[in-house]
Amino acid sequence: MKRSILAALGLATSLAMPAAAEDIKVGLLLPFSGVYASLGNEIEAGFNLGLAEFGGETDVTFEILREDTEVSPPAALGKARKLILQEQVDVMVGIVSSGVLGAVRDMVHGAGVPLIVANAGNDKATGAACSPYITRMSFSNGQINRPMGTWMAEQGIETVYTLAPDYAAGRQMIDAFAETFTAAGGEIVGQDFTPFQKTQDFGPYLAQAASSGADAVYVFYAGGEAIAFVKQYDSFGLQEDLPLYGSGFLTSPLYVNAQGEAAEGVVTALHYAPTIDNAANAAFVASFTAETGRVPSEFAVQGYDAARALIEAAKTGANNRETLANALRQVSFDGPRGEMSIDPATNNIIQPVYVYETVAGEGGLTQQVLAQLPAEADPVNGCEMAAPVSN
Ligand code: BEZ
Repeated sequence: MKRSILAALGLATSLAMPAAAEDIKVGLLLPFSGVYASLGNEIEAGFNLGLAEFGGETDVTFEILREDTEVSPPAALGKARKLILQEQVDVMVGIVSSGVLGAVRDMVHGAGVPLIVANAGNDKATGAACSPYITRMSFSNGQINRPMGTWMAEQGIETVYTLAPDYAAGRQMIDAFAETFTAAGGEIVGQDFTPFQKTQDFGPYLAQAASSGADAVYVFYAGGEAIAFVKQYDSFGLQEDLPLYGSGFLTSPLYVNAQGEAAEGVVTALHYAPTIDNAANAAFVASFTAETGRVPSEFAVQGYDAARALIEAAKTGANNRETLANALRQVSFDGPRGEMSIDPATNNIIQPVYVYETVAGEGGLTQQVLAQLPAEADPVNGCEMAAPVSN
């Protein structure tokens, strides 16, 4: 059995066989504890499925080393250092939090180790702090939220109150939304940024939103904070008079069942929903569901596509830090999210964005796609992409 498959089954590191010359050593840097632990586990599940499904397209074998970033920039930096200097990995995959990505960026760039970003949307990593070593297969914070500002204004919503956790992702997502919403004639009538990883009671913030007179509330929350927020929003009885919108991490299929009826009617924008109608997505949903017993979320598809990108790069003959960095920047394929490619100006993914409503379906809550907004490349945001690294 090929070791790429063994790696996907979590067995590669326990094999007492010498590494084959063509092995690519992969460091998986994900939160396996903290508020984003479920996101990390889901990305890993998607990544393993991608390795198992596409690994047969190359003879290259992959050794996987996994490290827990927690949701802590200093802890993540220590783990990245270990993978890069001690383990001498050829490539790293992962990072969920924008704060963690900001913390490891200089280390990755300075050491010249390719990083496939499998979640963190930090705009700067493909903007002013871009690097030929950083390729994003997930989304950027601006990319998801900009189209939603325009779309909501087009729906006749005139005033909005915004809420998000107080860290890079929350600030960037809300700024991007506010920029296009106000450009389209809308008004932000109030904003709050809640202490990240510390807020359990959203009551005081919801009271402010309720008394603001806004037409709607727009938020970014993910993981455990998203579950708590949506439930509390519902128990305050706000949804009817003050409809809730946001980026789709709010009602991710990963935890929407934990939110239950409270999530019904929430409208969000995202680069993936398991109900997207295309052949690649149908195949992915079937194989992920067979493997895990649940429908895949955006986090699963990001892990799956990160594995596929790595395999596409390996198929070109790339097998070390420099050649992998160059090959990853040139990846493009039609996957479960539709047509996607990497923008050479920033190394950020270009992909469509979908607006969906969480509705009750036959087998529980599901995602009803309301609109597909056109694929849009991010503005370069100060990125001066260095020439490809020499091999
Ligand atoms: C971020 O920190 O970039 C992030 C975390 C969870 C979901 C989406 C974005």
